[in-house]
Amino acid sequence: MLLLLISLFFVAPLVAVVALLWSEGIMLPFEKKKAEYPPFMPSIKYPNQIAGWIETIVALIGTRAPFVVYEGMKKLPQGYPWIVTGKFPNKSPSGCGYAVADVHIAKEILTSPHSRKSVMYDGVDFLTCGFQNIFTANGHRWRHARKFVAPAFSSNHIKRMNRICAEHLEHFINTTLDKYAEEGKAFDVSEEMVTLTLAIISEAAFEYPMSRKEMREFTHNLEVAAKTFVIMNPLHQKFPWLFPAVWRARHAAKNLQALAYRMMDNYRAVHKDKKEHEFRDDTIISRIVNNPNYTCDDERAADIAIFMAAGHDTTAYSISWSLIEIFRTRPAELTEFRNKIAEMPDRDDWRRVTELQYMIKEAMRVYPALAMGTVRDVGVEITYQHGKEKVVLPKDSIYFINLFPMFRNPEYYDDPDEYRPSRWANPKTEEAHIPFSIGSRNCIGQTLANAELSTVLSVLCARYDFELVQEGYPEFFSTLTPCKYMMKPTKLF
Ligand code: HEM
Repeated sequence: MLLLLISLFFVAPLVAVVALLWSEGIMLPFEKKKAEYPPFMPSIKYPNQIAGWIETIVALIGTRAPFVVYEGMKKLPQGYPWIVTGKFPNKSPSGCGYAVADVHIAKEILTSPHSRKSVMYDGVDFLTCGFQNIFTANGHRWRHARKFVAPAFSSNHIKRMNRICAEHLEHFINTTLDKYAEEGKAFDVSEEMVTLTLAIISEAAFEYPMSRKEMREFTHNLEVAAKTFVIMNPLHQKFPWLFPAVWRARHAAKNLQALAYRMMDNYRAVHKDKKEHEFRDDTIISRIVNNPNYTCDDERAADIAIFMAAGHDTTAYSISWSLIEIFRTRPAELTEFRNKIAEMPDRDDWRRVTELQYMIKEAMRVYPALAMGTVRDVGVEITYQHGKEKVVLPKDSIYFINLFPMFRNPEYYDDPDEYRPSRWANPKTEEAHIPFSIGSRNCIGQTLANAELSTVLSVLCARYDFELVQEGYPEFFSTLTPCKYMMKPTKLF
């Protein structure tokens, strides 16, 4: 009895405290022994400690995740490539997970034929009602979808994409922006840009005129479903019926699926009297509806929904960050751009001006939309050189390729936190700038994204001046969102 009492009152709490200290990385003597290469992520909370798994998980699911990983990487000893061992319960067969912000190691992983979209993305399939989609699938399911849809993004179609972007931008200017300018009011940059990019993608990619109401519902449903499913809470997965949040998320995913079905129905109705050779072959929806390799329309709906999800806020936030940084810092490139376009009667030429491209590229470096990048499971050992030492990472590990710290890695960029478009005139390196990722799973939508970025920003920078009247804050949840940045426009001509 006495033994039982002792163990209950003394041993159990002691074990709990030791476990907590261990998990939080405070058991330095033990951790020191374990600190092989790559090192564990340094703790931000405790000086000279490593980040424990509680700190790691809290950091990774928090809205400051990219900044936390960046701060951790900055604490690595000088000369170390930016790769750390993640200390969290992970699903890789090798038991090892790594966060990578070194571009050479990232390249090896992203271009390896043995690299697959990670099991860490399993939760994303719930967004598409349990069906795999082009973003998460591997093997035949991914290959046929990607191959069939790729022609919709070929450079032959850029003209059409640019035209659609220009038309929607003109509509935004006439119905919204000019009103703000006339009334001297400020607007929420990211909110307006999300509406604009949804209008563009729904027409350019899906031949579907999306109403304002549908846009509001779409962004709401996506947020509700993503916030519950993407995090993959094990309790939600084991006992889904217990949690109202899961019911709501499932309902939201059903609504996303219903929108995808409306888009397919609309496409089929418009094209119903056309022969097969008369179908449009230059839009995503045409390439999805007419792809015979899908086993059912639910699979098609999954890809439509994920294209909508992947293609709207990434672009909207990249445009927003560019506007915010350009008009906060007013770099020499803005003046140079305006001087050059004064001599260019054809507006189509504005988007190609080098200084504009530098300003956009720099915004996508400092604030990459997919700030936490991408996750891969790699079936082979990954090796790299660290000084004279060859480091071998075990096969079947998980790699988190983190773009935010990679794009601020001082090995590639001087004064990396500074928005400085001029750095691109004479860059230290070009290869560490991969906002659309690289390899076979890179961003399929980058031609459309670039068309939107350059069309929208060239016109806005030319015809308007913006004052940043309210400083917002960056918030991360799957994309890096500029929250509550308010800008007041002034029309120049
Ligand atoms: C500035 C805007 C954009 C950025 C920064 C961006 C970035 C990325 C990145 C980094 C990936 C790789 C993700 C991974 O490997 O896990 C990706 C994949 C993808 N993106 Fe984008 N993207 C943008 C716009 C778009 C647009 C406009 C579309 C569609 C119209 C789109 C559709 C997709 C799809 C479907 C994938 C998955 C491709 C696959 O796995 O084969 N993205 N994007």
